[in-house]
Amino acid sequence: MAEVQLINLTKRFGRRVLAVDHIHLTVKDREFLVLLGPSGCGKTTTLRMIAGLEEVTEGTILIDGEDVTYLPPRARNVSMVFQNYAVWPHMTVYENIAYPLRLKKVPRDEIDRRVKEVAELTKIVELLDRYPSQLSGGQQQRVALARAIAVKPKVFLMDEPLSNLDAKLRVHMRTELKAIHHQTQATTIFVTHDQSEAMSMADRIVVMREGRIEQVGTPEEVYEKSANMFVASFIGLPPTNFFYTEVRRENDALKLVHPYFTLTLSPEQAARLKDYTKSRLVLGVRPENLLLTTEDQALFSVEAMVVEPQGSHQIIAFQMDDQIVKIVAPAYPKVWPGERIHVTFRPERIRFFDPETQQAVGDEA
Ligand SMILES: Nc1ncnc2c1ncn2[C@@H]1O[C@H](COP(=O)(O)OP(=O)(O)O)[C@@H](O)[C@H]1O
Ligand SMILES: [Mg+2]
Repeated sequence: MAEVQLINLTKRFGRRVLAVDHIHLTVKDREFLVLLGPSGCGKTTTLRMIAGLEEVTEGTILIDGEDVTYLPPRARNVSMVFQNYAVWPHMTVYENIAYPLRLKKVPRDEIDRRVKEVAELTKIVELLDRYPSQLSGGQQQRVALARAIAVKPKVFLMDEPLSNLDAKLRVHMRTELKAIHHQTQATTIFVTHDQSEAMSMADRIVVMREGRIEQVGTPEEVYEKSANMFVASFIGLPPTNFFYTEVRRENDALKLVHPYFTLTLSPEQAARLKDYTKSRLVLGVRPENLLLTTEDQALFSVEAMVVEPQGSHQIIAFQMDDQIVKIVAPAYPKVWPGERIHVTFRPERIRFFDPETQQAVGDEA
């Protein structure tokens, strides 16, 4: 069992910087939880407070119900893997993994057993006698990982551990890390600014912005039910398209008027928005939920501006006044720049946002 609870956790640097702003979060036992957000939003600071490397300004950290807020790092039973590997250059791979265990006075034969076990798991058995300078970046990162696993911590903390690897290896290591997690079943808190990394690895994603939590949910939840416009645009690539509309009510019908189209909502959608009384509403439509259709079925027609073939699909960009809108469409029929395209929305996939608060509205309870 290793559950991590953050209660009202806050970190100030001096008087000016509020790096982490009263966050509440429960990381479940065995969960692979990803903290995701743009640079500077407080991910590393949060992780360092859990590790005990950063003093807490306010709030409490519980691991398995035990208050560890003021315990030194080594008394917390957590293990941290950093972006820059931090393997010791003057020790062999074997010694790098064994050293923390020696410090913990683990018996010699137990150390040997564990080093071989984690080397197996992280696929570095043939590297055990080498020095870090004789290893590639990806291999060094595996060593750092092996070292972290060998101490059998209650909780793994990983701060952008893949971001120094080249693109192909990074994607490969996602799969390996997930496989390792599957075997060790250790509670893991993984930090990244890369939404696609978060989507592909997380059991749950915590989306952060400016020290606060914007949404917590499974990858599907944060993608399909984004809680606000920030999440809708931060998650997914290309991001959600937003259309600013005027609300017209005619008896029970609801019409949304945009300079390029008028959308009449279904009775179900209108019912969900019956408590929304403001005059402006934002439509959030993901690029794959804009559909190419025939002229008579179209909500509006525009000229394609840029087309990016992706092999399996094509990304079509067009302009609406000064806004660029993107469509993800099947690879065929191929669309050419300058071609007139007819566009509609997948109606059940539209999300609604309040332009003032930027929060989603009209969700089923
Ligand atoms: N030691 C520090 N002293 C002052 N400000 C800091 C320090 N560490 C981080 N910060 C600030 O705290 C905020 C959060 O930083 P950080 O947790 O590193 O963000 P992230 O890891 O999400 O990029 C940023 O504004 C950063 O500049
Ligand atoms: Mg960071």
